[in-house]
Amino acid sequence: MRVERPRGLAVLRRCLLGLSVPVLLATAPVAPAADATVHPSLWPERPYTAADPATDSFVNTLLARMSLEEKIGQMIQADIASLTPADLRTYKLGAVLAGGGAAPGGKVRTTPAAWLDLVDALYRAELEGPSGAHAPVPILFGIDAVHGNAKIVGATVFPHNIGLGAAHDVELIERIGAATAEEVAVTGIDWTFAPTVAVARDVRWGRSYESYSDDPQLVAAYAAAMVRGLQGERARGTFMSAGHTLSSVKHFLGDGGTRDGRDQGDDRASEATLVRVHDAGYPPAIDAGALIVMASFSGWQGVKMHANHDLLTTILKGRLGFDGFIVGDWNAHEEIPGCSKFSCPEAIRAGLDMFMAPDSWRRIYANTLAQVRTGEIPQERIDDAVRRILRVKALAGLFARGAPKTRAGAGDFTVLGSPKHREIARRAVRESLVLLKNAHGVLPLSARAHLLVAGEAADRIDRQAGGWTIDWQGDHNTNADFPAGTSIYAALRSAVTAAGGKIVLSPDGSFRSRPDAAIVVFGEGPYAEFEGDRETLAFGAHDRSTLALLKKLHARGIPTVAVFLTGRPLWVNPELNASDAFVAAWLPGTEAGGIADVLLARADGRPRFDFVGRLSFPWPATGMPVIYDDDDATSGALFPRGYGLSYAHGGEVAALSENPQLPADRGDESTLFQSAHVTAPWSAFVADALASVRITDASQVSPRGTVSVALEGTELAVRWDGGGSGVFWIGGRPIDLRAASGDTAVVARLRITTPATRPVWAGPRCASGSQAQESGCGRHGEGALEVSRFLDAVPPGRTATLTLPLACFRRAGKALASVAGPFELRTDGKFGLSLTEVRFVPARTPGCHPGVEVGK
Ligand code: BGC
Ligand code: BGC
Repeated sequence: MRVERPRGLAVLRRCLLGLSVPVLLATAPVAPAADATVHPSLWPERPYTAADPATDSFVNTLLARMSLEEKIGQMIQADIASLTPADLRTYKLGAVLAGGGAAPGGKVRTTPAAWLDLVDALYRAELEGPSGAHAPVPILFGIDAVHGNAKIVGATVFPHNIGLGAAHDVELIERIGAATAEEVAVTGIDWTFAPTVAVARDVRWGRSYESYSDDPQLVAAYAAAMVRGLQGERARGTFMSAGHTLSSVKHFLGDGGTRDGRDQGDDRASEATLVRVHDAGYPPAIDAGALIVMASFSGWQGVKMHANHDLLTTILKGRLGFDGFIVGDWNAHEEIPGCSKFSCPEAIRAGLDMFMAPDSWRRIYANTLAQVRTGEIPQERIDDAVRRILRVKALAGLFARGAPKTRAGAGDFTVLGSPKHREIARRAVRESLVLLKNAHGVLPLSARAHLLVAGEAADRIDRQAGGWTIDWQGDHNTNADFPAGTSIYAALRSAVTAAGGKIVLSPDGSFRSRPDAAIVVFGEGPYAEFEGDRETLAFGAHDRSTLALLKKLHARGIPTVAVFLTGRPLWVNPELNASDAFVAAWLPGTEAGGIADVLLARADGRPRFDFVGRLSFPWPATGMPVIYDDDDATSGALFPRGYGLSYAHGGEVAALSENPQLPADRGDESTLFQSAHVTAPWSAFVADALASVRITDASQVSPRGTVSVALEGTELAVRWDGGGSGVFWIGGRPIDLRAASGDTAVVARLRITTPATRPVWAGPRCASGSQAQESGCGRHGEGALEVSRFLDAVPPGRTATLTLPLACFRRAGKALASVAGPFELRTDGKFGLSLTEVRFVPARTPGCHPGVEVGK
């Protein structure tokens, strides 16, 4: 079963864009710009490294024997969630994949043996039937082993790429590639969708953690090393020998350069930047033997990469001499104007050799076949594509490798999470840690001291691992899913206990006996792809609980070390100010022992390991991303790329500004009101039966004077005099909240100033006009919830958080399809309250469970 469970806030943004289908996120029409022209002479020139003559003649002989049906089959990759071994008796496909949410029997927590069984069964089915098959060609099986073979329970989970970037260690990358390949090979799989060689330039992008660095040189060096590690090398005779796996370099081209860091968006970089920055990883990866390149979901200057003949064919296959094949990304061809996921001759004509058609394979197979017959796709293009695919299979030894279960090492599951591989991962974790602050030499901590380990992520391997772990988003995992893994707390505990110290786990930071020091582990939750896109880089804008905890410990004089788990550098000035030491630990994976190695001292008080990690991205000075000029000089960084303290060269950080400096028109769309500001794109209104007026002044009254608002400090005080109506927020145009309604809630932080004399209603604000009437949202009272009982429960003077899951408003029929705004509060009685914040949050539980929480 595919997991497609976009979380509320991501969905919400899609609603605001007026698009409700997740994959359409970036397809807002963009006119092809005039400068989408490509100049081959600007690109590096590589010789076309044709395969050896023996391979070529083998491939040509095979090709000559193949029917058109078999050829089209080679050009298609289906997902195991939508195909069974039996299908391969009829359809001779070129490849299958296990997408983010797919697994044998639909069970992502299944055994490694079940993976090998499935891979083997698919391989055999492809070769066995039907009797009419002319030219049996072994099938390739691909998986996203992007930080170890992390979809498999028990595998070693290495740090995500951003942490590896901080290690600045090319040799380590090759070792990780080799270890990953071994863990892939034991499951019989022959192909991983790695490495990502994106050079992320706006870390609001949800895939920033898949990017090693914003530095093209580092990405280039790592790209080659990872390819060598995964595949072995032709020159050394290890290419695709036992324990190796095919790599694929992705996502060609410019995925890391999309506007505003929007996943699958449009890259507007100049051609020169494309060459110098975004293409940096490809030539060295191809030199290192990469034979598969994945085309990007994104576009360049308004042209989607899957349709970009200039870049796929003229540049990649021509100028860069790439002689392998280009695989598409997950139904990405459907984003080309005129295409659907079931039909896209345009992509093939542009140079795509294999469609990734997870669930659409059957129909795209039939349509492509028909399109060749009508001449819409030239036969030569098909022959070129299939020749490339066969050549890769031949070079990789696939025709001689035998069935997956018969391969050397296959089924030896002791390789998964083996001590040797975990040791490599632990070293990678140590090297990836970047020390941003170490006031008064708080670190290293004595392992013989009394340590408090706090923070919501202190004992959470899922938070260390992030996305692309067991399933797509990696947000359903518990420690039990990592039998070989170690949480940060567990790692510290074993070191401290061994040294005779005392250690206490207390996620909320409470304690009975005063600790000598505290370690607070917190950061971003798991996400993958577009679900991780952010509007701003301001961390914790919606959840100040960790900051409060840091401040509390600080106030009590307890030396406090912050360990920040994150997929990217974020603006954390308040947290930096509130801690004595601050460590960026990225997404370290399962081997948290590497963190204990560096944070804890030896018995003599000296460090065991020093911090060697240095930022591979600049760290932002505000909530907005760092800006690059044409020469790659950056502005807006608090710490530049390359920054990182050590025990040898320590340092303090002066008190930092706690203002994220978000431009008024670029706020976080999940915030409606905060810090006395109504955040764009939202506007607030005060209304009565006569009309509504936009709140633009510090105090305002409704046209009839029955409702008034006044800004008092950071609070918006609202008073009703009994004449009816209230306040509401709108987004400027009707929005569709249906997709977000499953997992998003609106919360309002408030204080009651005058108890309500009549019922108070809260809920989305209906859109006006015929569209709204059709949706059933137009009638008064519909779609709103009576919240008096919650408000009555708030004692006078106390602040409280009122939570309204959007699921509560689904009962109003199609009402959520077209609302003017997500929040309205009204009553006919007398009432007074002060609002400090109104925003969207991920709902804690599915379904309609409104409630109120009274603050302390
Ligand atoms: C991602 C690729 C990934 C593929 C298969 C796509 O959505 O963009 O990076 O390899 O899915 O899971
Ligand atoms: C799949 C991923 C894929 C994504 C694309 C998910 O459902 O599991 O492999 O990358 O969709 O949007």
